[in-house]
Amino acid sequence: MDRDYTCRVFLNSLFLMLQMQPSTSSDSAIESFIAQLQNICGTGSELESKYLGSTDQRRRSRAWSSLFMFMPWILQWSNLADFVDWLFVRLKSEILPATRHFVEWSLALVLVRCPEFRPLLWRHLKNFRGKAHITISLCTVSLFVTRKRYQEHQFLTDLCDSLTPWLTCNHFTVRAYAQWVLYTAWQLADRDVVKSTGLTAIAPLVNFLVENPECQRHREQFYLEYALSAFDVEEDLTIDYIFSGHGQLQGYTTDEIISSHAFGRVLLTAPIAIPLLNETRKTIYDLWQKKALQLPVQVDDPTSSNVVQRKGDVWSNHEVDFSIPFEKSQKVPRLPLILAASLLEKPENLGGLSRTCEIFGVETLVLHSMKVTTEAAFQSLAVTSHLHLPLLEVLRRNLPEFLTAKRREGYTIVGVEQAESSVALNHASIPERIILVLGNEKGGIPPNILTLCDMLIEIPQSGETRSLNVHVSGSLVMWEYIRQRLDTGNVREIA
Ligand SMILES: C[S@@+](CC[C@H](N)C(=O)[O-])C[C@H]1O[C@@H](n2cnc3c(N)ncnc32)[C@H](O)[C@@H]1O
Repeated sequence: MDRDYTCRVFLNSLFLMLQMQPSTSSDSAIESFIAQLQNICGTGSELESKYLGSTDQRRRSRAWSSLFMFMPWILQWSNLADFVDWLFVRLKSEILPATRHFVEWSLALVLVRCPEFRPLLWRHLKNFRGKAHITISLCTVSLFVTRKRYQEHQFLTDLCDSLTPWLTCNHFTVRAYAQWVLYTAWQLADRDVVKSTGLTAIAPLVNFLVENPECQRHREQFYLEYALSAFDVEEDLTIDYIFSGHGQLQGYTTDEIISSHAFGRVLLTAPIAIPLLNETRKTIYDLWQKKALQLPVQVDDPTSSNVVQRKGDVWSNHEVDFSIPFEKSQKVPRLPLILAASLLEKPENLGGLSRTCEIFGVETLVLHSMKVTTEAAFQSLAVTSHLHLPLLEVLRRNLPEFLTAKRREGYTIVGVEQAESSVALNHASIPERIILVLGNEKGGIPPNILTLCDMLIEIPQSGETRSLNVHVSGSLVMWEYIRQRLDTGNVREIA
């Protein structure tokens, strides 16, 4: 991880420095880097790209962060029109919200700085047959631009014209986004600007949005999302947000996050194109975090009981020591065993499993949400194991689809459950390439997933208690898998 981290810091610093000395040769190098990064942003298997933490998703997010290093240069580029067309295409195909944010952000930046491209946004918004996720993204782009251009008459008039039809959309989320954008424009614009723009025409609608308790409740959800309530496309264009804040908000694993301090140590002069961090934003991050997490105001005395630990410290300074020699970084040999723990809820169980998986060299630990790794209860059992273990986010509802796809890749689906057709662990011959499924703490493995399993394994019990703890069950089966390979001498690095 250290080598990986260092490479990313040096390479992205190089991208930044390239723009500091404009010349024909640096321009052609930049163009070539941009083309390669665009290529990476647009490739990857559809299945893999869907999951936060997958190799494809990580590769694409990294390519997007690096592309952002060139954003000030791109905004002046003679090929900007082609780039904008490419962004609209990406908006259609980028599935994961964490990566879509970069597409929405780049589009909004272009539209803020270059009004000549705005008709494209209005045209796309007037495609009433578009898919919901695209319209939601177009609303998000409109919101980002609104925050910067709320005093411009033409912009506000076009915004109302394009967004008002979506207020009547049957799709709840699309409707809520359209409401939020228009409400934001109304709140931000000066009253005399409101009077002279299309906003006047929707005054009765906005009054309804302001007064109606249900609309108020929905708005509260928008306030909780940093991107939707406080994100600023220009002010947040910092190394700190691109490489740290964004990843922490999205629940990236810690090894994907780079502190701006690392860049500070590599760049000899402060980067001009993109600042390391924006001091004035710090207060906003802080206020937003307290509001979003409903934390009491922190007091100075760290021993006071009023001090509440933050769930995710958005702008923390996770850092790797650059003094670690490169040779120390080693790739851990991994077993072809994936542990699917998406059905589990308790952070303690997931933390314990993370530790077992890391120690045994499991290929990947699959979680319902990466955010659990930021919880104190998870970390108290995981210690730092999750920093050295490949993690993948697969939502509970997507688990059947994920398992089926893995079976096509050659994995045997093994359920760990007390069921009629289960084989006792002491009689089970566990296949080489497996995906182990554990059940929910209360409900176990639901029938739709039980029927997907190629094999079920049960740990024999003799006591009165109905079942074992799920973390213990998973660990016992993983150990048996390893024990069977130790006998055949297959797991040399562990033996
Ligand atoms: C606490 S159990 C779930 C509740 C359980 N179905 C019951 O009715 O008591 C949580 C999970 O732990 C695992 N588990 C617990 N005891 C087990 C055993 N003896 N054999 C195999 N898996 C077990 C299974 O994955 C199960 O879904």
